[in-house]
Amino acid sequence: MLEGQRIAFIGAGVMAEVLAAGLLRSKLVPPESILVSHYRDDRLEQLRQSLGVKGVRDNREAYTSADLTVLCVRPQAMPAVLEELRDVASADHLLISIAAGLPIRFYENRLPSGIPFIRAMPTFFAQIKMGTTGLSLNKDTTADHLALASRLFGTVSENVIVLPESEMDAFTTFGSTTTAAVYMLLDALITAGSLVGLRHQASHARAIEQVVAAARNVEATEKPPAQLMEELCTPGGVTVEGVKVLEERAVRGAAIDGVLAAMKRAVRLAKDAADA
Ligand SMILES: NC(=O)c1ccc[n+]([C@@H]2O[C@H](COP(=O)([O-])OP(=O)(O)OC[C@H]3O[C@@H](n4cnc5c(N)ncnc54)[C@H](OP(=O)(O)O)[C@@H]3O)[C@@H](O)[C@H]2O)c1
Repeated sequence: MLEGQRIAFIGAGVMAEVLAAGLLRSKLVPPESILVSHYRDDRLEQLRQSLGVKGVRDNREAYTSADLTVLCVRPQAMPAVLEELRDVASADHLLISIAAGLPIRFYENRLPSGIPFIRAMPTFFAQIKMGTTGLSLNKDTTADHLALASRLFGTVSENVIVLPESEMDAFTTFGSTTTAAVYMLLDALITAGSLVGLRHQASHARAIEQVVAAARNVEATEKPPAQLMEELCTPGGVTVEGVKVLEERAVRGAAIDGVLAAMKRAVRLAKDAADA
């Protein structure tokens, strides 16, 4: 499905590189079918050398030379990019954006009508081909467009799912906040390991191992995490003593409040973007 397609990435930053590299690894498209655009020659040269892809300085040229385009600029750069594309945008060309927080309406308000458009949220773990990419489609997309996008993001994620756009901000925010929470917890646990006498390297390895194994265990047993925690804690034993302190310090409450605060901010930003 992606075979034979020319794919442009506008905004040749971190994510564009990750997506282009994933596509190349999958061997679905050759490097000469991938085009990246950026206003700095040194960045284009870097990508030409590392991935073998073609670079152009002009976003319009990237779009018009491709069959499908992925917008990879940050949300604040998006209005200028859409302004450049407005009079070349075509109903025959699938446009995808991975920008966080910008609703489909934001793009539709700035482009001619009838443009097939997909709002995509690839995973932060795209570099290691893990996690799930969420897609929300506008009314002008077809089953073929969905198949193209699924194939593309399938090269950098384990799963690709279609979401109603009303769920996209929660999907994005939950993903990023849970990741941050786990990183914070891991960091603290590694320090704790050193404090109880493990060498730093051992503490680091063991903390990662425990977090991965705990998640896999929830998945494999399909038991609620609270039940597994109860099974872990022998009455009057060592672990329950630690859990008591975690409860007193409201670790659960902090995790919930963190996600809710991030969601509040996401809703605010999405509203501002939609009104802009
Ligand atoms: N990072 C993630 O994990 C992640 C995950 C999912 C989605 N996203 C979304 O992906 C998008 C890109 O994120 P990123 O982390 O890849 O950011 P990034 O590294 O800053 O990439 C954006 C690139 O676009 C360039 N750029 C800025 N204005 C441009 C313009 N008018 N025309 C062409 N290129 C332009 C930037 O150049 P300069 O830096 O030189 O200005 C930069 O190289 C964001 O919208 C973000 O919300 C990111």
